[in-house]
Amino acid sequence: MREFLRSPRELGTAFPCSPAVARAMLRGLDTSGWRAVVELGAGTGALSGVLSGALPKGCRFLAVERSPALAAEFRAHWPDLDVVEGDAADVGAICRMRGMPRLDAVFSALPLRSLPEAVQERMLAGAAGLLAPGGVFAQVTYWPRALVAGREMRRRVSEHIGPIESDRLVAGNTPPAWVFRCLKAEG
Ligand SMILES: C[S@@+](CC[C@H](N)C(=O)[O-])C[C@H]1O[C@@H](n2cnc3c(N)ncnc32)[C@H](O)[C@@H]1O
Repeated sequence: MREFLRSPRELGTAFPCSPAVARAMLRGLDTSGWRAVVELGAGTGALSGVLSGALPKGCRFLAVERSPALAAEFRAHWPDLDVVEGDAADVGAICRMRGMPRLDAVFSALPLRSLPEAVQERMLAGAAGLLAPGGVFAQVTYWPRALVAGREMRRRVSEHIGPIESDRLVAGNTPPAWVFRCLKAEG
């Protein structure tokens, strides 16, 4: 709440996501062959326990969080998980520096629409450059597809990553949220 009052646009919501959002991000995916995964906008780690818990042994998991206060809380809550205090716009450089040049999935709880356009573009281009063909980009949003803003956001993500593979309502989250996934196109 303190961080939300300080920078509402960067947080997007004062409420942490529920584990149901993480489960919707993972639903139906075969994670058994995954080697490296990134979570963007990890906050204090509301999704990170479920996401990292679904990964096979040996799969790398890296959380990226821009707020120093939230990254510090993340470390306190999740001492065994790797978190970088950094900007999702730099995801390409961050992952290469960490020896993760290829990703099987990117999970994003970033408040995409309220971020500056340049940040959105750099983050999406960076994620597209890291994802293996067929890799997954999952985004949680409070904008339904029925609204123009929601459609524009999905179009932007899809243009960078690939076609939308699923889009489902998580009604039990506060507030209700949608999780959509795009699969990285070949080439
Ligand atoms: C809606 S909150 C989600 C927090 C948590 N993952 C959850 O699900 O409850 C969005 C998070 O994105 C972070 N964030 C915003 N802009 C960012 C950026 N450019 N790079 C990295 N993190 C960012 C915020 O600080 C905040 O922790």
